[in-house]
Formats: sequence, C-alpha cells, structure tokens
Amino acid sequence: MKFFVDTADIHEIEELAATGLIDGVTTNPSLIAKSGKEFVPLIKDICKIVNGPVSAEVAATDFETMRKEAEVLRNIANNVTIKVPLTPAGLKLCKLLSHDDTKVNVTLCFSAAQAILAAKAGAAFVSPFVGRLDDISMNGMQLIEDIVKIYKNYPAYKTEVLVASIRSPMHITQAAKMGAQVITAPPSVIQQLFKHPLTDQGLAAFVEDWNKSGQTILKD
Ligand code: E4P
Repeated sequence: MKFFVDTADIHEIEELAATGLIDGVTTNPSLIAKSGKEFVPLIKDICKIVNGPVSAEVAATDFETMRKEAEVLRNIANNVTIKVPLTPAGLKLCKLLSHDDTKVNVTLCFSAAQAILAAKAGAAFVSPFVGRLDDISMNGMQLIEDIVKIYKNYPAYKTEVLVASIRSPMHITQAAKMGAQVITAPPSVIQQLFKHPLTDQGLAAFVEDWNKSGQTILKD
C-alpha cells in the first residue's frame, strides 16, 4: 500500500519524508491557501523533497481555463500529478491528459458511479473522500469496498483507488484490508500509526533493564 501525505506544509512533508515511508503528496486549494505560500513555487519545492507523485489541483472549473492551468502545473516537475474535480469538464481534461501520458488524480469522488467514470477517463488515481461521507452519516469505507470490487471486475482499468479525507488510523487499516492501493492522510494521522501504548511501555522496560545490566553495544 502506498502512503501519500495530505498537506502543503513543507516542514511536515520534510519530517515525514525523512522516515522513508512516504510515497507521495496530495494538496488541494484549501491546503495551499492554508500554507500562505505561492502555489507554483511551493509545488516545485515539494517535488524536490518527494520523488513520488505530488498532486497539484487546478483551480478553475471551466474546461479551457483548467486545461491552461494543467499545462502550467505539469511543467513544474516530472512527478506532478494533475488533480481535477469529478465534473464533466474535469473528466474531459482527465481523458485528454491521460492520453498524453500525464498522470491525473480525479478528486471529490463520492459515489461508485463517479469512480467508474474516472476509470473510463483514464485517471491514474481516483480519490473517494471517506471522512466527508462519514460526516454526513454515510459509510465512507463502504464506498471504498465497492470501488475496489468494481475495478477488479475490469482488469483493463488502470486507475488506483486513493483513499482520501482520512480521519483516523482505522480508515487506513480498513482500506488496506479492502485492497485499496493508496491512502492519503494528514500528517497527524500518519504520526498516530506509529503509536501503541504497549510499544512505549515495553521500550521503557527494555531501556531500564539494559541500563541496569551495565552493558554497552558500542565499544569505543
Ligand atoms: C484529498 O486529496 C483531499 O486533499 C483531502 O483528503 C480532503 O480531506 P478533508 O475532507 O479532510 O478536507
């Protein structure tokens, strides 16, 4: 399973990239606005930190302007993935860019029918938003199960399921059980994955016992 980090905060990306466990980055217009940084140079900097796909989203909603924006974004670096909304114009652009070997992440997916359209448009990734579905009392993870199952029925679809809008480690383990290829999560949720109280307790006991033994591994 690939792990993407869902942030435009360069320090958080650097910190997580240093673990060697981060395969890519996703951003969106809200995260860019929150960063307070200029979009294009910021994406350029992120692309230097992480070798894998970095999703940069078009801001316009009409096809012609989206197309021009995508042109600017894909020239930033080889690892930029163009993120487009799941609208008729977004899917039309997805089809065009995918045909041209540019990776596209179709975002704001909330139904299995929309995910089928994204696959037909040649998307490299489809991003179903599980947390936002849970927020309105729907079952976000059920959508992931449905999409994974549907895509398996059509091996010609090359689209990877990128589970987005993740709120907790539980979303990630469930997504892994279902066979989703990628998750994108905020840094705080990725940090939670490392944690278990028994790990902390066990380590404290090992350190204490080791210190009592008076031994050292490194001899100068
Ligand atoms: C995905 O690409 C989106 O940036 C993100 O996962 C949205 O998450 P949110 O619902 O927490 O804003």
